[in-house]
Amino acid sequence: MAMTSLERAEAAEHAMSQELDRIVVKSVIYTSGDRDPRQPLPPQQSQGKLYMMGHDSRLPRMPEKPTLFDFFKYRFGPSAHVLQSARLARKNGVNEKIVLACLLHDISVMGFIRGDHGYWGAQLVEPYVDEEVSWAIRHHQVLRFFADESYGYKYPDSYIRLFGADYVPEPHIQEAYRRAREHKWYETCRLITVNDLYAFDPNVKVGLEEFTDVVGRHFRQPKEGLGFDQSPSAHMWRTINHPTKYL
Ligand SMILES: [Fe+2]
Ligand SMILES: [Fe+2]
Repeated sequence: MAMTSLERAEAAEHAMSQELDRIVVKSVIYTSGDRDPRQPLPPQQSQGKLYMMGHDSRLPRMPEKPTLFDFFKYRFGPSAHVLQSARLARKNGVNEKIVLACLLHDISVMGFIRGDHGYWGAQLVEPYVDEEVSWAIRHHQVLRFFADESYGYKYPDSYIRLFGADYVPEPHIQEAYRRAREHKWYETCRLITVNDLYAFDPNVKVGLEEFTDVVGRHFRQPKEGLGFDQSPSAHMWRTINHPTKYL
């Protein structure tokens, strides 16, 4: 009987995991939609192999006590967008906390989960930054859907291209916007969206070192390394470090 495309994909994946010395089973959230999460997983012919419980040899190994910049270097996708946004914010003369917020605003898209990225990103950094910074990161994704002419912020053209001209934010987003509008830190958050570059220049190179000072002053790097302190978001950093652990 011919294999369906799903079965073929699963067979290919199975073959790939055989090349590793450990069995990798992807988290449901990575595969939901590509496969029906209600279906049982294909049998793992373990042949004496153990399940992945640590470093995945397909990824670069991270230092034992990883810093924020180590995550940028070894686990996050290309960071030109946030680096250029942070540089623009600095050029526009905003305070340093906002420069940091611009540098971190999309780290969840870059290295963790896309959907609701403002909320995930805020949660990741919350134990290590001022409350104002994480609040602004959390709400930037909501504010981006709503224009504010007084800050020169228009609804992004790229959103029309990406989501269609008839896209309307869901009611919970509208409500989150209404609340953010009334908040004392509205401006901080609005300034992320103002400095958020939609079309960044691929030829402009901004290095992380440009923000060593800002991060040093405003990001409380744990001495045990991100993931190995006991903060409320340490587990999220560990998951980014070791994304394929079985448990
Ligand atoms: Fe964003
Ligand atoms: Fe962004």
